[in-house]
Amino acid sequence: MDGNGRWAKRRFLPRYIGHQKARTAVRKVVAHCAKLGVKALTLYAFSTENWKRPADEVSKLMSLFLDALQREVSKLHKNNVRLRIIGDRAGFSEKIQQHIEQAEALTQNNTGLALNVAANYGGRWDIVEAVKAWQLTHPEQDIALLTPDALAPHLALAELPEPDLMIRTGGEQRMSNFMIWQMAYAEFYFTERLWPDFDEADLEQAMVSYQQRERRFGRTSEQVAKC
Ligand code: IPE
Ligand code: MG
Repeated sequence: MDGNGRWAKRRFLPRYIGHQKARTAVRKVVAHCAKLGVKALTLYAFSTENWKRPADEVSKLMSLFLDALQREVSKLHKNNVRLRIIGDRAGFSEKIQQHIEQAEALTQNNTGLALNVAANYGGRWDIVEAVKAWQLTHPEQDIALLTPDALAPHLALAELPEPDLMIRTGGEQRMSNFMIWQMAYAEFYFTERLWPDFDEADLEQAMVSYQQRERRFGRTSEQVAKC
């Protein structure tokens, strides 16, 4: 969800106003995904590298995160959304951690959209944590025997299918450490639209682009045509 700062700057407003406006876009996209029957949506809200931002911006982002946890969760629950937060939550305040736990517990049995928010998340962190978890659960095994298939169940969101489509707003064309393992075969869609302006029509445009892709997963086009 990139482009909040630029959205605000273009209006001669402080950057945090852009982060505030981002919430409207999140609401729209979550509701539209639920309506369209999307099974899982993962939003990259705060990376392990975002702590490097100026302290006042980090603190504004933390306040907004807490406020969203306090004010949005009951509505998500009513809409049958299952909310999960992925990332190293130990980096957050006790209060935020408590709200994360409450939100996840409240919505854990919901059967609608699986909504994941990546916060203090990094793909490299995710992979290292998975290796540690593998070793803990297989103390008797030699690490030389570790395979991609053996590691995969220990990564964040392993119980969900791997992402089909990655949308990045704000014009930059990179992954910025987002689910780098899980997106090995995701289709990428980049748009100049700044996140606070992203709406239902933009989401549908990304989906239409996705529908035109041929997913080969390493095979040839001829092989794919036969399946
Ligand atoms: C994305 O918007 C939000 C976060 C990373 C928290 P930015 O804050 O990166 O917005 P730009 O890229 O400066 O416009
Ligand atoms: Mg940015």
